[in-house]
Amino acid sequence: MTENAGGERQPKIRIDHLYFGYGDSQSSDYVIEDFSLDVFDRDFVCIVGPSGCGKSTLLNVIAGLLPATKGRVLIDGVEPAGPGPDRAMVFQDDAVFPWYTVEQNIEYGPRATGVPPARRREVVSKALSMVGLMDDRDKFPRQLSGGMRKRVDIARAMIMQPRVLLMDEPFAALDVMTKERLQEEFVQIWTPMRMTVVFVTHDLEEALYLSQRVVVMSRNPGRVECVVDVPLEQPRSLMVKTTSVFQDMRRDLAQVLRTMHGGLEAR
Ligand SMILES: Nc1ncnc2c1ncn2[C@@H]1O[C@H](COP(=O)(O)OP(=O)(O)O)[C@@H](O)[C@H]1O
Ligand SMILES: [Mg+2]
Repeated sequence: MTENAGGERQPKIRIDHLYFGYGDSQSSDYVIEDFSLDVFDRDFVCIVGPSGCGKSTLLNVIAGLLPATKGRVLIDGVEPAGPGPDRAMVFQDDAVFPWYTVEQNIEYGPRATGVPPARRREVVSKALSMVGLMDDRDKFPRQLSGGMRKRVDIARAMIMQPRVLLMDEPFAALDVMTKERLQEEFVQIWTPMRMTVVFVTHDLEEALYLSQRVVVMSRNPGRVECVVDVPLEQPRSLMVKTTSVFQDMRRDLAQVLRTMHGGLEAR
C-alpha cells in the first residue's frame, strides 16, 4: 500500500472533480460534471447507470483516450499524459484481429512492446491456459464463438499485466449462459492477480456478483448518485446470486435506479 506524506492511503485511481464535455472547453454542457471517486489498489468497482449517462466517456477519460475538460484523473498520484500500457481496456465488441490466430492475437501486445521471443512464448502459453484456449490457439477469430473471442480479449488485456483494467460492458453482447460462465471464469482469473478493475455494466446482478463497490451514475449530468458496498465474501461462486442477501441488494439497487430518473431502468 502506498502512502503519501500525510500518511493517507493513496488511491490507485483518483477521479478528482472531473468535468468532461464533448464540445469546446468553454461549454457548460458537460456530459460528466463534478465526478469524484477514489478506487484503491486491488479494488473491483462496477459502474452502473442509465444509457447515455457517460459511463463509456468516463472510462475513456481514465484510459487517457479523452482529456478531462476540468478536474483530473490521477493514477498512483500522477496525472498520465495519455494512454499507456498500465491501463488496459476491454470493450463490448471484440478487439481481436480477424487475420491473426488466437495465439497471434494474444502475442500481439508483448511483441509490440519488445518482449523477447522466449519470454513471449512463456507468457502467451500462460495466458492461453488461463482463458482455456490452449487447444484453440491456432484457430482464427471467425472459427470461435462470441464467448471464446471474449476470452481472447481478456487474455490480451491480462498479458500486459496492467495496473488498471478498464472494462466497458465486456459481456453485454453474450447470451445469458455464456455471460455467467465468463463472469465466473473472470473472477477466477482476477482473484490471484487482483489488479484494480473499473467495470461498466448495465446488468445489476453482474455488478453485484463481481464487485466490492457499485457506483451508481446519474444522467444529465453524469455524476456519482451513490456508492453501494457489496459485503459478500470473495471469491464468489455463481450460487451467491440465489441467496436472499444478494437478491435484496439487487432489488434495492434497481429501486435506486428507478427512482433516480423517474422510472428509467439501468440501461
Ligand atoms: N464522440 C461523441 N461526441 C459527442 N457526444 C458524444 C460522443 N460520445 C458520446 N457522446 C454523448 O455523451 C453522452 C454519454 O455517452 P456515453 O459515455 O457513451 O454513455 P454510456 O456509456 O453511459 O451509455 C451521451 O449523451 C452521448 O450521446
Ligand atoms: Mg457505453
